[in-house]
Amino acid sequence: MEKEVGAGHKGSFTAKVLSNQQIRECYYRLNLKLDPIGSRLFETAKPGRFVEIDLAGLPLPPEDKIPPALRDAAYRQILLRRPFSFSDVIFVPGQNGPCVKLEILYCILGPATLRMMTLAGGDTLNLIGPLGNGFALPDTLKKAVLIAGGMGAPPLLHLGGYLKRHRPEVETICFAGAKSCEDLPFTLKIGNLTGLVLEEFDVLGIPSLVATDDGSAGFRGFVTDCARRWLRDNQPNPGETLVYACGPEPMLAEAARLAKEFDLPCQVSMERMMACGIGLCQSCAVEIKTDSPGQTEYKLCCKDGPVFDSRNVIFNL
Ligand SMILES: Cc1cc2nc3c(=O)[nH]c(=O)nc-3n(C[C@H](O)[C@H](O)[C@H](O)COP(=O)(O)OP(=O)(O)OC[C@H]3O[C@@H](n4cnc5c(N)ncnc54)[C@H](O)[C@@H]3O)c2cc1C
Ligand code: FES
Repeated sequence: MEKEVGAGHKGSFTAKVLSNQQIRECYYRLNLKLDPIGSRLFETAKPGRFVEIDLAGLPLPPEDKIPPALRDAAYRQILLRRPFSFSDVIFVPGQNGPCVKLEILYCILGPATLRMMTLAGGDTLNLIGPLGNGFALPDTLKKAVLIAGGMGAPPLLHLGGYLKRHRPEVETICFAGAKSCEDLPFTLKIGNLTGLVLEEFDVLGIPSLVATDDGSAGFRGFVTDCARRWLRDNQPNPGETLVYACGPEPMLAEAARLAKEFDLPCQVSMERMMACGIGLCQSCAVEIKTDSPGQTEYKLCCKDGPVFDSRNVIFNL
């Protein structure tokens, strides 16, 4: 297994907002430049880890920018930090060591993400991170099959970019699914051979296939069924292939079933509501099988996860 130098090191630091760009009706791309402490902490952070952001002091956007469905929730106080993965970590060389830029893709869901809409270049945020364990990248890995559902996509985009930069020998393919094409946090474009592809993966040289439940783009149906078709046609070698999945829990459960069907190991990135993000409050339990048959125990999504071996997870369905 690849060893992460400095794994487990985390801290509190600030980040300057470079840009906060709307990419779809409810999706934004936030670019942050970390201070020297954050930059050092992120030097070795691998994909699948996350940060907790303090958003309590931000103002609400103007009333006409608040989606009607969120008008009541908008005024709820934000006491707790909110967890976000990153879709890219960029190192910019500098005289006193590299400066790190983080890219976060976020979806407007409630009071905290609504307030994130107001972030503008020059604003400062306080972050804690990098948190969690991240995806395993075994030395034997030759083929990575990424399966993203809805907003599960950001850490898989980071993983794709990371593999291209650090493990170029690994062949990577991405399957991204959503209810409808409007719910995909990516830019769709026509690929050379395969029909619709995702621009963000295309620029990395990673082939991608799109699935939508309503058939508005790409394969009509679940993203896991799209991946199943590809696995049947390509029969990747179980000894050197890993499935990485991130998205809603039912999709993760289906990705786990799919991987089992093809005898492939699978890493699932789980989501839980997180109060502290650092293993103190016990609010983010995930039920995991132990080595004793029929026995389970609870692990913490923020500290032991968010990435788990799918064979061990008892999914909440
Ligand atoms: C490890 C991790 C990484 C994440 N990465 C991203 C990311 O890259 N981009 C992104 O947009 N979001 C990400 N999230 C989710 C993000 O933290 C929530 O969308 C955010 O906290 C919502 O805050 P809010 O106050 O706007 O809405 P809230 O009022 O807190 O939430 C609105 C509704 O969204 C659902 N929800 C919110 N958070 C979670 C959760 N953790 N698990 C299950 N359901 C939830 C609930 O139904 C809730 O009622 C991540 C969550 C985790 C745990
Ligand atoms: S969020 Fe507090 S223990 Fe995980």
